[in-house]
Amino acid sequence: MGTEPLLELRNISKAFGGVQALKDVSLQIRPGEVVGLVGDNGAGKSSLIKTMSGILRPDTGEFRFQGNAVDLKGPNDAKQLGIQTVYQDLALCDNLDAVQNLFLGRELVGPRVFGSRVKRAEAQKRSREVLRRLRLDSISLTRPVGAMSGGQRQNIAIARSILWKPNVVLFDEPTAALSHTAAEQVGLLIRQLADEGLGVLVVSHDIHQFVVEVTDRVVVLRLGRVVSEFESKSVSGETIVNAMVGGNEGVNSAR
Ligand SMILES: Nc1ncnc2c1ncn2[C@@H]1O[C@H](COP(=O)(O)OP(=O)(O)OP(=O)(O)O)[C@@H](O)[C@H]1O
Ligand SMILES: [Mg+2]
Repeated sequence: MGTEPLLELRNISKAFGGVQALKDVSLQIRPGEVVGLVGDNGAGKSSLIKTMSGILRPDTGEFRFQGNAVDLKGPNDAKQLGIQTVYQDLALCDNLDAVQNLFLGRELVGPRVFGSRVKRAEAQKRSREVLRRLRLDSISLTRPVGAMSGGQRQNIAIARSILWKPNVVLFDEPTAALSHTAAEQVGLLIRQLADEGLGVLVVSHDIHQFVVEVTDRVVVLRLGRVVSEFESKSVSGETIVNAMVGGNEGVNSAR
C-alpha cells in the first residue's frame, strides 16, 4: 500500500496540566488500511482519537488531511473532512429506534426530519441501504436500541459512522463489551470498510485476537509516545504486549 496518507499527524503533543498525554506523536492512516492503536491504560489512545476528531486541540504539531495541513477548530471541521468517530459509549439514544439513531443530529432535509412521513420514509430507506451494505439486514429499524444487544448497538454505531460516506473512521474500543462472536462480526465490518477504500484506526485492548487478526499495522503508545510500530501479519501478540508495557526493550525500535 504505497499510497499517500489520508490522514497524518506530525509531532503532536498535548498536556493536561502536568500530565503529558501525547508527546511528539506522528502517525499515518492510508486508504484501505486498518491501523491498530494500542497501549496501556492512560497511554494516550483516547486523547489521540479526540485530537483526530477535532475534540482536543493539540498544543503543538501538525494535522494533515489528504496532503494539506489543516487546523481542526472543532468536531464539525473533522466531520466536514469525512472523519467519523465511534466512541466507546457509542452515544446512542436508547429510547429511539435504529433509523432515528442513524440520523441523530444530522437532519437530512430540513429541521423536521421525523415530522413528516415522507422524510421518515426516506431516512428509513437510507438506513436499510446502509445496513444491507454492512450485511446487517436482520437489525430492526423500529425497535428502541435500548432493547438491543451490545453487539447490535455496536453495529448501529458503525452504520451511523458510514452513513455519510466518510473517508476515515476512528474506533475507540469497539469490541470492549462484546462476546467473541460479536467481536468477530465487528472485525469483519471494520475490514470491509477498509476494503472499500476507507482509512480506519481502531483502539483495542484485545491484542491477541482482534488486533493481530483485523489490523494491517499496529502503533504502540506508551506514556504518550509512539514506542513501536509493527506490520500485523508478522508480529505476535506477545511482542505487541511487551512493547506496550516496556518489556524486551530494543526488540523492535521502529522509532
Ligand atoms: N480531560 C483530561 N483532563 C486531564 N487529564 C486527562 C484528560 N484526558 C486524559 N487525561 C490524561 O491523559 C492521559 C492519557 O489519557 P487517555 O484517556 O488518552 O488514555 P487511554 O490510552 O485512552 O487509556 P485507556 O486505555 O484507559 O482508555 C492520562 O494520564 C489521563 O489521565
Ligand atoms: Mg481510552
